[in-house]
Amino acid sequence: MKHTPWQIRSMEDYLSAYKKAKDDPEGFWSNVAESFSWQQKWNQVAASDLRSGEIAWFTGAKVNITENCLDRHVVSQPDKIALIFEPNDPNDSSQGSRTWTYRSLAAEVNKVANMLAKLGVRKGDRVVIYMPMLPELLFSVLACARLGAVHSVVFGGFSAESLTTRIKDTGSCFVITADAAIRGEKTVALKATLDEALASLSDSPVRSVVVFNRLNTSPEFVNGRDIWWHDAIKDCSENFEAVACDSEDPLFILYTSGSTGSPKGILHTQGGYMIWAAYTFANVFQVDENSIHWCTADLGWITGHSYIAYGPLLTGTTTVMFEGIPTWPTAGRLWQIVEKHAVSHFYTAPTLIRSLQTFSEEFVTKSDRSSLQVLGTVGEPINASAWNWYFDLVGEKRCPVVDTWWQTETGGILISALAGISPLRKTYAGLPLPGVIPVLVTDEGHEIGESDGSGNLCIAHSWPGMMRTVYGNHERFLNGYLKPFPGRYFTGDGAIRDVDGMYRITGRVDDVLNVSGHRLGTAEIENAINKHPSIVESAVIGASDEITGQAVVAFVVLDPGAPPFANEAELFTQVQAEVTRHIGALAKPKRIYKVTGLPKTRSGKIMRRILRAISEGKTSGFGDTSTLINPEIIDGLVAAIAKDKRREPLKKSIE
Ligand code: WT7
Repeated sequence: MKHTPWQIRSMEDYLSAYKKAKDDPEGFWSNVAESFSWQQKWNQVAASDLRSGEIAWFTGAKVNITENCLDRHVVSQPDKIALIFEPNDPNDSSQGSRTWTYRSLAAEVNKVANMLAKLGVRKGDRVVIYMPMLPELLFSVLACARLGAVHSVVFGGFSAESLTTRIKDTGSCFVITADAAIRGEKTVALKATLDEALASLSDSPVRSVVVFNRLNTSPEFVNGRDIWWHDAIKDCSENFEAVACDSEDPLFILYTSGSTGSPKGILHTQGGYMIWAAYTFANVFQVDENSIHWCTADLGWITGHSYIAYGPLLTGTTTVMFEGIPTWPTAGRLWQIVEKHAVSHFYTAPTLIRSLQTFSEEFVTKSDRSSLQVLGTVGEPINASAWNWYFDLVGEKRCPVVDTWWQTETGGILISALAGISPLRKTYAGLPLPGVIPVLVTDEGHEIGESDGSGNLCIAHSWPGMMRTVYGNHERFLNGYLKPFPGRYFTGDGAIRDVDGMYRITGRVDDVLNVSGHRLGTAEIENAINKHPSIVESAVIGASDEITGQAVVAFVVLDPGAPPFANEAELFTQVQAEVTRHIGALAKPKRIYKVTGLPKTRSGKIMRRILRAISEGKTSGFGDTSTLINPEIIDGLVAAIAKDKRREPLKKSIE
């Protein structure tokens, strides 16, 4: 990125920025915002109140985030590479790796914006995007933003039912998809899944479906509704004037799981999100004009939104998109890509590091990694052994590893080392970014002062990138995030702070699981399992897993009147299928135990603490069980686990 007055280059810069942002947030953020292009300046920098839940930044301003991602760079560096695309198959001659300059990327985005406008998409309309990791996914996202339409990307691994919920909840009239996706040797029929989703909607809002042809699988088309991308885009112009949006106009909705009920549509808006994605990207990763940044996430997650798409493009950086998987054709695929494209900044998830750790080191060392400068992780706490492998082997002890803590709700990174600048401490995310005031709070709501300690992690002030609401359910935003500890934003995570003020995230304190860096609600999985006609109730917990961090473990109670399962394997297969159908394969339980009852309190709440202890092999000493209404069932639970011969791997927790 070209020199900006807010780029942090030393610890001294960091300390002074942190102080300024704390003492005078409005002055600080208006200074940052000055280096972006606005169609009209703001009247007020921050109009935010964590008590009332009114969150607004740069009010009165007019902006379009894509003018900052594209047009600015088309003027200053038109021929710079904006995007490098690496296809699934390294030997796929039809899809070889391709690049776009800022000028050609802008032209593609404008063509797609014209295509969408022709189909009737207008400012404020919601558009669901259900696509593989193709350049056209990125074009679609940016085209929506350019139009002022609200994109809602749904990860390709979600089931038809999950897609239905998201289409309904957003009230989307338009969907963009592809015939199919290919990852490794597996193809996934996206269009067929979308058709199933739409067929289950009695009064589907969807008027148009644009289908990108990736694999020539000839899906069925509904006349008048479905259109091929290549037909729809024909003759569309490469010019499209960015629609003027209010800073607080919605930019996107992204769904994530909570501890109760259905997934929540996290809403982010144009102006504040723009500042946060750019500021955090430039400062955490310390990119410069020559950086090639590769974030391995899917664009269907917030990590992809902020650090494949918006952060890199806002700062004029080259970003890499990869269609495939890390282990195909070999476990060396990622490092071959690093070598091929001279990647300098590499950002991934601890679970992926752990899974590659199980292969021979040669897969890493065979490729030249001398281009690497900075390594990053996100999604869950990184354990020491994965950190060592990443730092020592992948980065040859040259590259700082930034452990970035944040959430879908936060829009961008809140706590992390700044690469090469602030101190690294293994297994610690580190110090907060300027503008982020973390506080640790006891369950009773008492703040743990400035010293070391541990507690519920909250944030004391609004920052520009924070979520604005849960789409269509503002109450849920207030109840879930702002009311638990009034005056503060509650993250749902627990954390430890050491004497140096560095934070270590200890994991969720609510009923939310983290499986391979993906967030899953226990209630959501239980609801899916309970749809099985022979199951009366179930309880889901997370158990430690060497690769995925946590694994889903389900306890199910069968209906005594229902026809029995042929055997345990049959029960297992059917419960897994139920979860895959209602949520997606990513939520499938790894262990399923048939039990006669669940440990419950008098008020009917499942005591998951006991289930967790039992699943880890504990047979007695469950702490205070006086509130249990049915203590007699514990023996049965212990026996069900003891019988399970496959239990061993789950017991080994990651250090
Ligand atoms: C939850 C957010 C933010 C993009 C990926 C996940 C956990 C995230 C870290 C980290 C420890 C982390 C937290 C958080 N988490 N990053 N560096 N160290 N835990 O986004 O699906 O919104 O999940 O992921 O528990 O609350 P998400």
